[in-house]
Amino acid sequence: AMVVEHTFNVGNLTVRRLCGQQVITAVNGSLPGPTVKIHEGDKLIVHVHNHSPYNMTIHWHGVFQLQTGWADGPAYITQCPITPGNSYTYKFNVTGQEGTLWWHAHVSVLRATVHGALIIRPRRGRSYPFPKPYKEVPIVLGEYWDADIMEVERQALATGGGPNNSDAYTINGQPGDLYRCSSNQTYKLDVVQGKTYMLRIINAALNNQLFFKLAGHRFKVVTIDSSYTEPYDTDVIVVAPGQTTDALFTANQPIGDYYMAASAYSSAPGLPFANGTTTGIVHYNGATSARPLMPVQPAANDTITAHRFYSNLTSLTTGPHWLPCPVVIDDQMFVTIGLGLAACGGNNNCTNPFGSQYRFAGSMNNVSFQFPSRLSMLEAFHFGVNGIYTEDFPNRPPIEFDYTNRALNSSIPLMVTSKATRVKKVKFNATVEMVLQNTALINIENHPMHLHGFDFYVLAQGFGNFNRTRDSRKFNLYNPQERNTIAVPVGGWAVIRFRANNPGVWFMHCHLDVHLPWGLATAFVVENGPTPETSLLPPPPDLPQC
Ligand code: C2O
Repeated sequence: AMVVEHTFNVGNLTVRRLCGQQVITAVNGSLPGPTVKIHEGDKLIVHVHNHSPYNMTIHWHGVFQLQTGWADGPAYITQCPITPGNSYTYKFNVTGQEGTLWWHAHVSVLRATVHGALIIRPRRGRSYPFPKPYKEVPIVLGEYWDADIMEVERQALATGGGPNNSDAYTINGQPGDLYRCSSNQTYKLDVVQGKTYMLRIINAALNNQLFFKLAGHRFKVVTIDSSYTEPYDTDVIVVAPGQTTDALFTANQPIGDYYMAASAYSSAPGLPFANGTTTGIVHYNGATSARPLMPVQPAANDTITAHRFYSNLTSLTTGPHWLPCPVVIDDQMFVTIGLGLAACGGNNNCTNPFGSQYRFAGSMNNVSFQFPSRLSMLEAFHFGVNGIYTEDFPNRPPIEFDYTNRALNSSIPLMVTSKATRVKKVKFNATVEMVLQNTALINIENHPMHLHGFDFYVLAQGFGNFNRTRDSRKFNLYNPQERNTIAVPVGGWAVIRFRANNPGVWFMHCHLDVHLPWGLATAFVVENGPTPETSLLPPPPDLPQC
């Protein structure tokens, strides 16, 4: 194993995009930030210096952080933020996972521009479970705002409404030449005819799932999140915010230029998404510049295509880190996820369709997650401090109702949530099953749910209300896909399982950024195991204090 070391200087960066310029927060003066490349088994050390005017933390999205929860990054969950002018060093080993992950700010909306790729190659001396590609290319999909993103957030929180739509989607920070003033802002990939390339696709967008295509070419998906898949042949890839997909393509078309393109998958009518399609150009060596061939993107509301892709993926059971899915379950949970209303309170001017008394809220089992502010939850766990959270997150919703029938459910009492920091406590090594059930109380939509600290198996997913008698027959216990982020189908459900073999406090939340401050989140507290090797390490001396 080797040590890979990086320094992240977070600060202001002036960028020219679309037809104007904007000061953004970025790492080492680039958007996206630096690509971190390691091998499975390596130790990663990243010194983060916060020169920005904002509080900062960095999350290593999808990294297990075995025993090192102090390096996980979500603000007030595992650490207090790094205040302006201060530093923190993240140190952790990366074991038991390979593929593409990413890092991003985990405080306010700063991940819009503070993010980059984290590439985990096979352990030194080992190879991929597929032929080695000629080249590997990170494709970071994002969103760009003409306005100051912090201003956009302030507005959204003040009015209790949604965020402004972004002004463009981006590929590796560039909108692409189909957007205004952007012909010099187009990502280009040079390829050699006949060679095979691996695209490491990351959805770093704040609020939208994306369809990704490459004109004239097909993909073979080989990894999702950081788990190998049974190779899956497709011409379209769907990625939810938080998810990653590694896909091979062979440059087997006539010499020429081809667009890669990403456009919104918006799961239900009325949901916000940005206009337009971001493009990059795949340029075959020797091609003379002609107009690139454009793929036909699925319609923004094409749930059938999204669901086909999401639900057809399976694990590669011969992969190097694959473990069978647990069949005996210690903790069974049924959890509703969705939007509701919280009492407005204070001086907030709540202007939403439900009047000035309420603002939008997100909830899980009708609890809207409240971030602590005076101590991180992980410190409370480690030092046994009471009063930061309670261990009474419910295993079931307070009432059962027809979750996905919108017409029946639009009654205010059903929609009003309670705000609290309630967590689910589990024993070390317990096996946990969660049925994630979307609700249609206010909006009907697909929520990408992300669990920190673990990969989970996705046993089944479907539409409507989950029915155990009927739907447990569809459980794939043989080769279920493993992920850290599951896009729970619009007006539907997904069943996941994981083994709680990682002591600490692990955040779980919707990765649509606007739903996080609204409270669509909870956390798992996993007790220490019986030995020092199965217990959380002590906090590093430079852990930021609140
Ligand atoms: Cu990628 Cu808690 O997030």
